Amino acid sequence: MTIYKILTYPDPFLKTVATPVTEFDEKLKEISDNMIETMYEKSGIGLAAVQIGFGKRLFVMDVTYNKELPESARNPMVIVNPEITESSEEQVNEEGCLSVPEFRAEVKRVGTISLKYQDVEGNEHTMEASGLKSICIQHEMDHLEGKLFIDYLPTLQRNMIRKKLKKRYA
Ligand code: NI
Repeated sequence: MTIYKILTYPDPFLKTVATPVTEFDEKLKEISDNMIETMYEKSGIGLAAVQIGFGKRLFVMDVTYNKELPESARNPMVIVNPEITESSEEQVNEEGCLSVPEFRAEVKRVGTISLKYQDVEGNEHTMEASGLKSICIQHEMDHLEGKLFIDYLPTLQRNMIRKKLKKRYA
């Protein structure tokens, strides 16, 4: 297992618009497994491929993750080439991101979504998601468009975060 280095804002690669996954091979499986390990290592509930420098439309998530639970209670998902086909009312929630350490902010998202996606083997699925799961999916899908949750904030606030993180991770 490899624990990947997570790129932090303002790393320019985080602006990459990811391209669709077309090869469902062993390498993809290995990268997904390592991404899951990396996500747990960093106590995250989601991690997009762009965040580890892999520009493909893929993310991993486990919204039920809790440090206190045993490893057997983990329930990771690999979501490939996701597409939201339906969405409902809006919700506002506080979000954070492994690429923007220690900052949180309220972001407006749609509520319940219908998602079309592929698994790591290329099989097609659909699912309905609401609450935290829906927020997590929308947050990770933003990463695939080169977008971070702080892009929803006023410029002044985002610049302040950039300065602080640049200083800390330079
Ligand atoms: Ni994130």
